[in-house]
Amino acid sequence: MADLVILGAGGLAREIAEYVQAMPDAPRILGFIEYDAARSGEVLNGVPILGTLDALPDQRPLLAVAGAGNVAPRRGQIGEMEAAGLEPMLVVHPTAVIVPSAAVGAGTVVAPTAVISSNARVGAHVLVNYGATVGHDMRIGDCVIVGPGCRVSGWVTLEDDVYLGAGAVILPKITVGRGAVVGAGAVVTRDVPAGTTVVGVPARPR
Ligand SMILES: CC(C)(COP(=O)(O)OP(=O)(O)OC[C@H]1O[C@@H](n2cnc3c(N)ncnc32)[C@H](O)[C@@H]1OP(=O)(O)O)[C@@H](O)C(=O)NCCC(=O)NCCS
Repeated sequence: MADLVILGAGGLAREIAEYVQAMPDAPRILGFIEYDAARSGEVLNGVPILGTLDALPDQRPLLAVAGAGNVAPRRGQIGEMEAAGLEPMLVVHPTAVIVPSAAVGAGTVVAPTAVISSNARVGAHVLVNYGATVGHDMRIGDCVIVGPGCRVSGWVTLEDDVYLGAGAVILPKITVGRGAVVGAGAVVTRDVPAGTTVVGVPARPR
């Protein structure tokens, strides 16, 4: 199997390294890619910071996963990954459940104890954080962040670049529009227009 690099060296990137290490047949992690030159050479939980993508060996194929926990920097990392010809790796912690009828895209990270249920379709470079549940027949676009402990019901649609804060609850058949943000702990009872931030119970625009 090809080796892996993790883009970024923040909290989520470190978590992803440990998820990968827990996977059966895990690839070797070459290191973190980090643009702060001062951090080059640091070692985080046994994994070195390599520096920028220019510091990478020419070896291909090389796997990569985005380590940013917010949508905009994550989009940047996806662009860098594509420009450098890296192959996105699907990271699924061994305690997560993805049922056989669900489909999950390349570069997505499914954290410990997350559940992706029947016929759900999850896009590329998504983060489903720990303890989150993704209901049956859901559609999740690309580069979506589903925060820790979210409860996303059946038939929900989360368009590209949506961010769900920790513990958000989305009721059945709701659509959350592209780039919308749902605050931590919100209960979403109505569709959320693209680019809108909603908070509270029931969730309302902020
Ligand atoms: C919704 C959110 C994105 C707004 O961030 P922001 O634009 O920086 O908002 P601010 O912190 O400036 O707060 C603005 C107002 O919204 C309120 N607010 C912020 N988040 C809220 C939330 N989740 N629920 C209810 N009200 C909230 C604040 O109390 C504040 O109200 P005020 O103007 O009456 O004082 C953010 O607060 C949030 O919930 N992020 C999710 C973080 C998270 O879950 N991370 C998981 C990491 S693993």
